[in-house]
Amino acid sequence: MQSKVSVFILALTLTLALAINPAMARTYVIKFSHVVAVDTPKGKAAEYLKKIVEERTKGKIKVQVYPNAALYGDREALEALKMNAIQMACPSFSKFTGFVPELQIFDLPFLFENTEHLHKFMNSKVGKELLKGVSRMGLIGLAYWDNGFKQLTLDDNPIRLPKDIKGKKFRIMSSKVLEAQFKVVGASPQVLPFSEVYSALQQGVVDGQENTISNIYTKKFYEVQKYMTISNHGYLGYMLVTNQIFWNSLPQNLRDILSSCVKEATNYERKLAAELNQEQLEKIKASGKVQIHYLTPEERKVWKKAMMKIYPEFYDVIGKERIEEALKLAP
Ligand code: LMR
Repeated sequence: MQSKVSVFILALTLTLALAINPAMARTYVIKFSHVVAVDTPKGKAAEYLKKIVEERTKGKIKVQVYPNAALYGDREALEALKMNAIQMACPSFSKFTGFVPELQIFDLPFLFENTEHLHKFMNSKVGKELLKGVSRMGLIGLAYWDNGFKQLTLDDNPIRLPKDIKGKKFRIMSSKVLEAQFKVVGASPQVLPFSEVYSALQQGVVDGQENTISNIYTKKFYEVQKYMTISNHGYLGYMLVTNQIFWNSLPQNLRDILSSCVKEATNYERKLAAELNQEQLEKIKASGKVQIHYLTPEERKVWKKAMMKIYPEFYDVIGKERIEEALKLAP
C-alpha cells in the first residue's frame, strides 16, 4: 500500500514538474554541418563532440553530423546557421569574409610563425574579441578549432619561388586577403567552394590550390596535382559557431554540459590536427603520386617579402592594431 502511494506521489511530482517546466522533458537536436571528410581534425572532433554530448546529456541533446558538404556547402552552411536550420558549423575563417571581415586576419600570409604563436594570439584579448564578432550574424563563437598551415600544389611545374606561379590559376576560399596574396605574386586567384576543388583541378579549370595536408590528403588533391611545396605560408583554421536563438533556448544545465563538452572537444581537436597533418603527409609521400619540395630558408624569405606587402591594404578592414598585436606575439 505504502509503495503504491510513493509511486503515485513520484508520478504526480514528475507530471507537475513537467507541467511547470516543459524544458525538462524536451530533447534538443544539433545539426552540425561541415564540408570536409570525416578523417580530418574537424571531422573527427565533430564525431567526438557528438559522442560526449549525447552521453553526458543522457540523450537530451542529440547531435547529427553532416560531413563532406552532404547537407550544405561553404556559404549555404552559414546562411542555414543564421536561420537556425542547423545549430552548429565550423567554417574556416575565410568563409566569414562577407559577414565578419576582420576574421581575415587569420588569412594574412606569414603572420603566424607556428602553432604556439597562433594559439597565443587566439588566447589574447584581441583573439577573444574576434570570437565575439559573429554576434553581428546572430551567432555565438564557441571556440577556435585548428587545422594547420597551408601548402601549395600545382599541376605542371615545381614551386620554389613566387615566379613559378606567375600566370597560374589558383583556387582560393572566399577571402579578399587570399585574393590579394596570389595577385601580388602575379598568379590568378579563383574562388571556388571546397566541394568543387577536386574536379576543378582534375579538369584543369584551375592549375593549383593551397590547403592543409589533411584536406589535400582526404580529398585526394595530390592525385590530380604533380607538385606540392611545403610552404607553410598561411594558416587555415576554424571557428566553431552556434545560433544564438538555439543556444538561449537550452536550459542552463544542458548549456553548461555543452560548454564543457566543447572545451574538451577543442583540446582533442587541436591535438589531432597536429598529429593528422603529420601522419597524412607521410601517406602522401608514400603514394609517390606527387613530387614534394620543402622551401629552403632563403626561398621562404623571398615569399615572405613578396606576400607581406599586402598587409597595408587590409589595415582598414582588419585593423592595423590587431595585426600589430599578432606580430608582437611572435616568438
Ligand atoms: C577550404 O575551403 O579549403 C577549407 O575551408 C575547407 C575546410 O573546411 O577545411
